[in-house]
Amino acid sequence: MILLDGKKTSQEIRNEIGLEVKALKEKGGKTPHLAVVLVGNNGASITYVNAKIKDCEEVGFKTTLIKLSETISEKELLEEVHKLNADSDVDGYIVQLPLPTHVDEQKVIMAIDPLKDVDGFHPENLGKMALNLPTFLPATPMGMMDLLDRYNIETGGKHCVIVGRSHIVGLPASILMGRNHYPGNATVTLTHSRTINIEKILREADIIIAAVGKPDFITADMVKEGVVILDVGTTRVVDKSKKSGYRLKGDVDFEGVSKKASYITPVPGGVGPMTRVSLLKNTLRSARTK
Ligand code: GUN
Repeated sequence: MILLDGKKTSQEIRNEIGLEVKALKEKGGKTPHLAVVLVGNNGASITYVNAKIKDCEEVGFKTTLIKLSETISEKELLEEVHKLNADSDVDGYIVQLPLPTHVDEQKVIMAIDPLKDVDGFHPENLGKMALNLPTFLPATPMGMMDLLDRYNIETGGKHCVIVGRSHIVGLPASILMGRNHYPGNATVTLTHSRTINIEKILREADIIIAAVGKPDFITADMVKEGVVILDVGTTRVVDKSKKSGYRLKGDVDFEGVSKKASYITPVPGGVGPMTRVSLLKNTLRSARTK
């Protein structure tokens, strides 16, 4: 079994990006600039946003954090989005999700300028991705593709089973794995809460992308020998021995499944760090194409 080390791989990519930013600046080019909009006080969102800003600083990007109150109206939030669309110094920005329930998330995503949508969530960018046109790819699926690529894992003709059809992970991952492209060219099965006999489908998988958010959902008896596992799950479970009071748990029972897998991502330290690096790649891409 080979561990797909997202921590190490993402550090390699960050080093490469850092060198590119340095070269860009030396040539008198623009410093890439990412803005992040954070609404409210969701603990996980604050942690993610702080990590994203730290990553930007490491590679020499400029960052702007826009913290807004939980009680902000949808109209006011849309005004902030319009301001960011108009700010020529901002190469890209994200609105951290989830948003408070009184705000229509889709409406906010639709208001983001697709040319600044470094999350790759805008329908225009998802459409371009589906058509294999150059665009921003959503961070988590892009991170997984990079991991497969960096470990030279064959995907062509393989049966890839994806568990979970979320708009930010499962659905775009199914498109990327089925594209006529490497990584891709896989035969894809997208499973979800209405799928019948998921265990049988999983046992036929050469590659499993698990993105349901249910700890230990996939166990060793559900996978075949030699399977490649990409585990997106990061559920917080109570752990009194940790300073934070919790630890992260994947969708896959690592202990059991790793004994049968050829490659597997750990949680934490697998897909998560790769997701973070994708945002840097998209922001650099945006700055370069300005
Ligand atoms: N919430 C959880 N993941 C993400 C992400 O990749 N982007 C944004 N904007 N919000 C998130």
